[in-house]
Amino acid sequence: MRGRLGIIGGSGLYDIPGLADAAWQDVDSPFGVPSDAILTGTLGDQPLAFLPRHGRGHVHTPTSVPYRANIDALKRLGCTHVVSLSACGSFRADMPPGDFVVVDQFIDRTFARDKSFFGPGCVGHVSVAHPVCDALSAACVTAARSVGINVHAGGTYLAMEGPQFSTRAESVMYRDVWGADVIGMTNMPEAKLAREAELHYASVAMITDFDSWHPDHGAVDVSDVIATLQGNGTKARDLVVALAADLPTGCAVGCDTALTHAIMTAPDRRDP
Ligand code: ADE
Repeated sequence: MRGRLGIIGGSGLYDIPGLADAAWQDVDSPFGVPSDAILTGTLGDQPLAFLPRHGRGHVHTPTSVPYRANIDALKRLGCTHVVSLSACGSFRADMPPGDFVVVDQFIDRTFARDKSFFGPGCVGHVSVAHPVCDALSAACVTAARSVGINVHAGGTYLAMEGPQFSTRAESVMYRDVWGADVIGMTNMPEAKLAREAELHYASVAMITDFDSWHPDHGAVDVSDVIATLQGNGTKARDLVVALAADLPTGCAVGCDTALTHAIMTAPDRRDP
């Protein structure tokens, strides 16, 4: 059965024009207030929900984004699939600004965020060995190619706490020692929470800069990032329209059954 497609928009993407029956809805969550109201509507036959990760007006830092409330609110709206769109820096000369990467692995270096829906009272350990949905990621690649985006299928995303960008030494280490392909500040713990919520999750990282390792590109400059983001915004919307026309069902990873063997607390001890 086709569910609702959730889109979490990153820097530079605060709206999805062209939705039928569009309405901004406030959604309550026991995990706090989401980053913003959520724009619901349909694209063709596809029900959709759009949440600007930083809020309209870009009010949330990567650390203050209420990741748990955001994922919970999308789940409550009936989302079965969530696509994350976010800006990132690149560690690879063959992945220049303007290209998109459909991420397939993460290195989580964030440390100041609530990372789980579980807590005292109910203990769960989901697998994130394969942290994204294979079918939804493949559909994102197909959609991106269909609208002429230069997209890379797969890449390792290093999630850093921020809000400062990396030092050159960190950038060189992430690239040369850890083998990361791109770097950003927002995909974690979002991807882990999406797995706990049994959502199909894919991450489309939009490259805005070469971080600070590149000998010909000194430091990350926010005005350059914004200029690239403005071009990326149009491409990202085209991608969403193409994806909405052909959303997959099911996957090999088992995103929608992630909790089946993950909860350790005995059923009679769990919170109601
Ligand atoms: N977002 C965009 N560019 C980035 C970079 N170089 N590092 C971390 N987050 C980013």
